[in-house]
Amino acid sequence: MATRVITNISELTTNDATLDVGVMGRLHDAALVIDDARVLWVGPNADAPAADEMIDAQHSAVIPGFVDSHTHLVFAGERSEEFEARMNGAPYDGGGIATTVASTRAASSDELRRTTEKRRRDLRTGGVTTVEIKSGYALNLEGESRLIDIANEFSDEVTFLGAHVVPPEYVDDREGYVDLVCGPMLESCAPRSKWADVFCDRGAFDVDESRAILTAAKAAGLQLRVHGNQLGSTGGIALAVELDAASVDHCNFLSDLDIDQLCASHTVATLLPGADFSTRADYSSARRLRDRGAVVALATDCNPGTSYVTSMPFVLAIAVRDMHMDVDDALWSATRGGAAALRRSDVGHLGVGAKADVVILDAPRAAHLAYRPGASIVRQVIDVPGNWSSTGWFSRAHGRINNV
Ligand code: NIG
Ligand code: FE
Repeated sequence: MATRVITNISELTTNDATLDVGVMGRLHDAALVIDDARVLWVGPNADAPAADEMIDAQHSAVIPGFVDSHTHLVFAGERSEEFEARMNGAPYDGGGIATTVASTRAASSDELRRTTEKRRRDLRTGGVTTVEIKSGYALNLEGESRLIDIANEFSDEVTFLGAHVVPPEYVDDREGYVDLVCGPMLESCAPRSKWADVFCDRGAFDVDESRAILTAAKAAGLQLRVHGNQLGSTGGIALAVELDAASVDHCNFLSDLDIDQLCASHTVATLLPGADFSTRADYSSARRLRDRGAVVALATDCNPGTSYVTSMPFVLAIAVRDMHMDVDDALWSATRGGAAALRRSDVGHLGVGAKADVVILDAPRAAHLAYRPGASIVRQVIDVPGNWSSTGWFSRAHGRINNV
C-alpha cells in the first residue's frame, strides 16, 4: 500500500490524548504519515520518515476530517419561504416537514441521487469525511425504503427515521402509523440501516410512541438515536438515556436533571447550531453541558427546513460565537464528539491506527475555522477511498462508480 507523508504542518490536531499533550493531542511543526487506510506515524517534522509520496503542508494546520453525525441529506425541494417567514417572527413547529415529504415522494430516484451527491460533495469541501444520513422525508413503506437505498450509496451510517412526523394520510390514525413504522416499514428498512431515530417532541411523537418505536428498532438489531427536546421539555433526553441511545440531538430544552442523566450515561448530546440559527431558537447550552462533563457533538443537521447548512466550519463558527464554546471544544465536538455520537473509535482523530481522514487547512491554526467565518478555509481533504473516489461516489448498491 502506498504511503504518504504530510510535512511542514504548523499545528497538527490529532485528538489523541495518549500523546500526553492534552485532549487535543496537538503538535507543532509536525508531520504525519498515512497509507490508503490508516495513520501510520505522527511526530516532529524533523523526524519525519520517508514515504512514497510527500505532501508539503506549507506551514498550515492539519485536523482530523469532520464527523457529521446528523444529516437529512436525501430530500427534494426547498423551503426558503418558511425560512423567510421565521426571520420575520414565525415560529418553527415541524409543520413544514409535510411540504418536503410531498416533494420527496414526487421526485425521481435520479433527482434524489443527484441532489444528495451535490450536498455530500459540499460537505466534503468543508472537510467532512464521515457523514450520517437519515431517511424520513417519505413516511411510507416504499418511499422510506427508497431513501434508505439512496442514503446507502453515500454512507455506511444510515439511519431509519420513519418516525419523523405522522404523515398527512395518518393524521386521524396515529396508532396506525406507529404500527406501520414498528412493523412493515422497520422490517423493510432495518436490514439496510445501522440506526433508528425518532423525532420525540411537540408536534411529532410523544415519549410512549417514541419508546415503542425505538424498542422495536432495537429488537430488529438497530442502534438508537433520538431527536429530543428541540421544541420543549418533552422527555426526549430521559428516553434516549433510558434506551442507551448513542446520541440525543438538539437539546435546546435542557434541565439540570437532563444534564445529570447525560453525564451518567453513554449518550452523547449532539448540538445543531445551524438549526438554532435558521429557526432563531435560543442556542442549546453547550457551556453548561461542557462544564458538567457531558460529551458534546456538533453536526450540521443538513435539511431543507431548519438547517440548510452544508458547512461544518460555519457550524463551528456559530458554536464558538453564539454558543460560547471554546474553539478547541468546538473542534473536538465536530470530530471526536461526532465519532462518539456514532460510537466509532476509528474516525474523528489522527492517532496511529485511525482511519486516514485528514484535512489540511488554508490557515496556520485551526482557530481560523471560527475566526474567518465564510472563508474557504479547507485546502485539501484526504480521505480513505471507499464511498468516495477521485472520480465520484462508489455506489455499493449498483456496484459501479457514479460520476454524476
Ligand atoms: O432536525 N426536528 C426534526 N427534524 C429536522 C427538521 C425537519 C424539517 O423541518 O424538515 C431537524 O431539525
Ligand atoms: Fe434532524
